[in-house]
Amino acid sequence: MEHTQWYKGRVFYQIWPRSFKDGNGDGMGDLWGVYEKLDYIKSLGVGGIWFSPLYPSPGVDCGYDISDYMDIAPEYGGMEAFEKVLEGAHARDIKVIMDLVVNHTSSQHEWFQKSRRRIEPYTDYYIWRPARPGGGLPNNWDSLFEGKAWQFDELRGEYYLHLFAVEQPDLNMDNPLVREEVKKILRFWLDKGVDGFREDVITFISKTEGLPDDRLMPASRGLLLYNNGPHLLEYLTEFYDGALADYDCMTLAEGPMINVKKALRYIEEKPGKVIDMIIQFECMSADCIATDYIHTPFSLRRLKRAWTKWQKGLAGKAWNMLYLENHDHPRVISRYGSEKYRVLSGKTLAAAYLFQQGTPFVYQGQEIGMTNWYPADPEMYEDVQTRWQYLHKATKRSPDKRLKRLWDASRDSARTPVQWTDGPKAGFTEGEPWFYLNENYKEVNVAAAEADPDSLLHFYRRAIALRQSLPAVRSGSYRAFDAFSGKRCVYAREGEGQRLLVVCAFSEAEQRFRAPAGFDLSAAKLVLQNYSDAPQGKLRPYECRVYLWA
Ligand code: GLC
Ligand code: CA
Repeated sequence: MEHTQWYKGRVFYQIWPRSFKDGNGDGMGDLWGVYEKLDYIKSLGVGGIWFSPLYPSPGVDCGYDISDYMDIAPEYGGMEAFEKVLEGAHARDIKVIMDLVVNHTSSQHEWFQKSRRRIEPYTDYYIWRPARPGGGLPNNWDSLFEGKAWQFDELRGEYYLHLFAVEQPDLNMDNPLVREEVKKILRFWLDKGVDGFREDVITFISKTEGLPDDRLMPASRGLLLYNNGPHLLEYLTEFYDGALADYDCMTLAEGPMINVKKALRYIEEKPGKVIDMIIQFECMSADCIATDYIHTPFSLRRLKRAWTKWQKGLAGKAWNMLYLENHDHPRVISRYGSEKYRVLSGKTLAAAYLFQQGTPFVYQGQEIGMTNWYPADPEMYEDVQTRWQYLHKATKRSPDKRLKRLWDASRDSARTPVQWTDGPKAGFTEGEPWFYLNENYKEVNVAAAEADPDSLLHFYRRAIALRQSLPAVRSGSYRAFDAFSGKRCVYAREGEGQRLLVVCAFSEAEQRFRAPAGFDLSAAKLVLQNYSDAPQGKLRPYECRVYLWA
């Protein structure tokens, strides 16, 4: 079937279901809640939803530990509620993509329970190894969440590999039967009418043969031996040829540590392309090194370098996925903007990424400027990774410093319930929320933003509508200016008889500004801004402006 690349003309919204909206009063977000909010989602100008996992799961990693790939968790409303949401989304011309989590399953998955007992055909569905002679772990790899990557199973008498939590055993993708299962899952959801997949850590599925010790890395040992592994392209090709090719769908692959050159192997638009877009992490590393837990001061230069690298690197060859937030990182205003200038900096951030080439994703709550959460007690964190980091990392530092580390880095900051109103429980639930609310909900909520014409929410709507109306944003060239400025981000898009200049200040202090040579501002139309006027020669705190010549 022809792949029409419909994703190139759409903006996506990511829903992390537990915290989006509770529809039945049990305190947990669900699909009934999503159904209620479909018009709201549509009102953003969005044409697609990515659902973080909705499947049955014990919830050790909030749904990324799946115990049944072909169903919807009862607490989210089951298959019936899902079908209703799918229909409601399609009726509004909103595509729906699912999270495909097949690097690992839950340890409660039937496959794993049978594999432990060596019941065929599941015996080799996972990566089992005996202890080393003398009793050591099979190799020295680290789990990305907790301790070592091996867990001994008494029933089977062997170790299994888990790159994430102990309850998330890695599937053995080298086993053709496992790859058949993946194709079955893909077809199951595509036949149901979903429009594609976000593929969770899909670049991890092919491990280096023999699972050798990692002799290079001091931490996250093994990463270089299983990320972009030897058979990855082959397996992705098999999924494509054996399922995806038959549907007009799209795929978005999560690629930790991936660079442009490697990404092009999978996404370059030529025969053999197996993936449509990559979630790269370089744009998430402007205030940290490799992981959010190694925090550094925010560097706008680093952020712009990452953006420019991907804009230029994929131009004419492949398609970018653009994002500022998702469920795995703290909130972007708190990281790259300013809580003091919450709305202004939220707008500048929005303008800085929304006019680049690619398909933008907006994460729930981003559009109203939700910020990080600062609990007083580390015990309040829920996330398995965060808890482990607190208990086992940086333990020589004082408890205060360790808590501060979580404030900077924990994914739980992005997982507090969406703030709908200033009423009880922020309008998220009529019951007791499953997780803490961010205390700023009285001020930061959807209802307040709806009522304020200058809100970030309305700015997102205007910016998305503008972007959708400008062919230059979809297909024009990209040119960055002021690469060395640590205080402003300036870029131009040009094509289809249009020229666009995006100017974004990233500073609490006023700065001088002159348009790049050849850009005559007096002949341009100011089509988007976050102040009510636009004096020449300067930019005020977190000011942004978008000029158009057409
Ligand atoms: C991905 C998900 C993250 C999850 C991990 C393990 O990075 O986005 O939330 O914890 O994979 O599935
Ligand atoms: Ca609920």
